[in-house]
Amino acid sequence: MSPQSATQLLDFSEKPSIVTGAGSGIGRGCALLLAELGSSVCVVEREADTAERTVASIDASGGEAFAVVGDARETSVAKDAVKQTVDRFGAVRVLVNNVGGMFPAAADDISDNGWSAIIRLTLDTTFHFCRETAPIMRSGGGGAIVNIASVAGIGGSPFSAHYGAAKAGVINLTQSLAIEWAPDVRVNAVAPDFIRTEGTDGLMSDEQRKRIAALVPMGRLGEPPDVARAVAFLASELAAFVTGQTLVVDGGSLYRSRLDFTPTPD
Ligand SMILES: NC(=O)c1ccc[n+]([C@@H]2O[C@H](COP(=O)([O-])OP(=O)(O)OC[C@H]3O[C@@H](n4cnc5c(N)ncnc54)[C@H](O)[C@@H]3O)[C@@H](O)[C@H]2O)c1
Repeated sequence: MSPQSATQLLDFSEKPSIVTGAGSGIGRGCALLLAELGSSVCVVEREADTAERTVASIDASGGEAFAVVGDARETSVAKDAVKQTVDRFGAVRVLVNNVGGMFPAAADDISDNGWSAIIRLTLDTTFHFCRETAPIMRSGGGGAIVNIASVAGIGGSPFSAHYGAAKAGVINLTQSLAIEWAPDVRVNAVAPDFIRTEGTDGLMSDEQRKRIAALVPMGRLGEPPDVARAVAFLASELAAFVTGQTLVVDGGSLYRSRLDFTPTPD
């Protein structure tokens, strides 16, 4: 292994990336950070205005980006994103699969359509972007995929059984692909707990947010850069020997409940 500085290991200047759902929230955070670290970025986003906002932010800070506006659930959009990224930047070396989502519902009330919609958006989309990207990575010097999972995919997820199952699928898919595609393509996942984004802002009041923040051992809610930094680590050569892993980004929340079951010292 040739000795490299930490700065070189975190350098994405020869590593064009594709980030799905990069118009807002966690996806936007990932696109901005990868661009800051030197990556040329393909912003895949269904909303033209937010896609252009991310591209403009990257342009304004001296980076390079373009948008593919479309529905990431369509395989044709993944093919188009890969083709355009190769045409413009010569390769795809990083993929961040960020598109996914849910609507809260009791399991009794989830219809066939509601179930299929969440599995398609969250799990199918992740799979077909991985499948379309990996051969290009393999033939172009290797690459790294980071899938955005969720703590909902690690433990059971009340009122989001469809989402929890889809994210558990993303975690398992990450492990399978990591083994099939080693050593050329590393595949890892990041599992955030509640992160304050445009998507989650609509779901709750300030009062509810304060209540959740008080439960987080780190004493605050997560923000998109908290997730983006974990993604950048896994996508970078700092993580050259890490594959098939899911990195939880939750300020300690997953294990907080142990407090309730642990005898406290006098
Ligand atoms: N925010 C959280 O608390 C949290 C926690 C755990 C996991 N996650 C996961 O992180 C990811 C991003 O969440 P977020 O809160 O940043 O969401 P968000 O709603 O703030 O942003 C999602 C972005 O993706 C775009 N998008 C959605 N569907 C699309 C599609 N079919 N095609 C193209 N673009 C599409 C949206 O327009 C939006 O710009 C999701 O996979 C989510 O499940 C979020």
